Amino acid sequence: MSIVGLFENSAVSKILPSSVRQTVERWGDHVNVLLAVRNPAVIQQMAPSAMRGLFLRQGRREAPTLMQASHQAHFDWSYRSDFPELQALYQKAKRMQWNAATDIDWSLNVEPVSPENPLLPQDFLAWDDLASHGVHLSPPEQRRALYLVLTWMLSQFLHGEQGALLASAQVTETVPFTDGKFYGATQVVDEARHIEVFHRYLDTKLNRLYNINDNLFTIIDSLMHDGRWDMKFLGMQIMVEGLALGAFSLLYKVTKEPLLRQLLRRVIHDEARHVNYGVLALRDFYTKQLTDKERIEREDWAFEVAVLMRDRFLAHEIYEEEFASHMTRRQWNQFVDRSPGMSMFRSTMFSRLVPNLREIGLLTERVLPHYERVGLAKYMNGRSALTLDGDDLVEGRAA
Ligand SMILES: [Fe+2]
Ligand SMILES: [Fe+2]
Repeated sequence: MSIVGLFENSAVSKILPSSVRQTVERWGDHVNVLLAVRNPAVIQQMAPSAMRGLFLRQGRREAPTLMQASHQAHFDWSYRSDFPELQALYQKAKRMQWNAATDIDWSLNVEPVSPENPLLPQDFLAWDDLASHGVHLSPPEQRRALYLVLTWMLSQFLHGEQGALLASAQVTETVPFTDGKFYGATQVVDEARHIEVFHRYLDTKLNRLYNINDNLFTIIDSLMHDGRWDMKFLGMQIMVEGLALGAFSLLYKVTKEPLLRQLLRRVIHDEARHVNYGVLALRDFYTKQLTDKERIEREDWAFEVAVLMRDRFLAHEIYEEEFASHMTRRQWNQFVDRSPGMSMFRSTMFSRLVPNLREIGLLTERVLPHYERVGLAKYMNGRSALTLDGDDLVEGRAA
């Protein structure tokens, strides 16, 4: 039985004040997360960020967060253009720029809990599972819960976009080839625009913003501190952006809200280029230039982070505000885990991520059994970012 399970079943948990019980459950949950990481080197690498993100909850403070970056800025005085695929992506990115202020119809009215144009499908969450814990929601209450879930998701997208803005600026400094720097400069402005649209949508249409999720904070913190250019690429361009692209594509497919569809369509086209950039930049480096020891470190890191991201985005911020007095944290985790919408999200996200890991050479025979063990190997033969563009993703041709 897990640490959280042992605590929940103990007599002590029954007599503690609710706030203390919740804190103990949360810490137990985090310890379970760390115990689930099997590779000691990955634990060691992530530990300082996990301390800041999970236990000190630095992302929840009112004050700005300062993270120490330690990368080297790479100058190339020859300005050699020797990466034609990245040069082509740079030209494409310049042609496809758009203006978040004028190319989106912000005059559209959004009614978050109206049955017209629902933000998320009604069967997105497992209502029966919730009812089994004594939480019976009427149809309007269900629509409000779906509004909270969508607001939570978009808030995490927004915070992820801020991570992408700063990471893409760092990557532009550290990447050792000029074509990559040129392309990276376009990504920086793309990410600023994404922050603009998600923040405006949340602020003026949904009227609510959630804190950054502790697990997302931990991953961003870890990438900001890592000085190696390829790890920033792997973490941000392949893992975070790859998963976000899957999430955006699925949300575009299931939401009926016209303004959200409009802005997601635009963002998806940009994000498809970003992931393409990550795959192009890492493919040769990982398959031709790294030593076996260096590549093995990346293989293990990518696998553990993939599993963490699959298992840890469980909307705890909603749980703590709305449902903590009705059910334990472990019951909430199971409820979210079993919800049809979340399982669709996981499936779409990993169908986008895993083929990219294959493409950059991180799904070797050594690590493949790990993916099989956790049920992610089935996505191995999907299409990578190199053969997918924004149109494929918004028109559902990505499978
Ligand atoms: Fe973005
Ligand atoms: Fe991006």
